[in-house]
Amino acid sequence: MSILQGEAVADNPSTLEIPISRVRRGRIYRYELAGRPVILFWAADQLVLASEICPHIGGPLSEGRLEDDGCALRCPWHGYKYDTRTGAFLENPNERFIQQRLTTTYSQYRPAQPRFKLHLLPYVIEDGILRA
Ligand code: FES
Repeated sequence: MSILQGEAVADNPSTLEIPISRVRRGRIYRYELAGRPVILFWAADQLVLASEICPHIGGPLSEGRLEDDGCALRCPWHGYKYDTRTGAFLENPNERFIQQRLTTTYSQYRPAQPRFKLHLLPYVIEDGILRA
């Protein structure tokens, strides 16, 4: 069975088939696709399918928090925030704290922005069914 949480109709673990009418807004669904955990949720008017593993150091994004009508996702481990439509890294909430701690010793310290992105996955919707 390809499902870990939520509802899926496909028994093939290498594919997902999910009726989009069952995907509620504001909720993150977790599934398994080809042996890897993935998440599905609404971001405004589009569905987002992405790896469940945070690109920082592997936090479980299914336990994260959706913000901005699902257009942003915050990781539960260190609070990194990602743009769910592009995958882009948006914010590290710890950066201000780190900056304040280091300014006395390293007044010119400016942490580099992470280059990693949320891993977005392709899908198609046919007859109300999301397939990946
Ligand atoms: S593991 Fe996600 S922010 Fe660190």
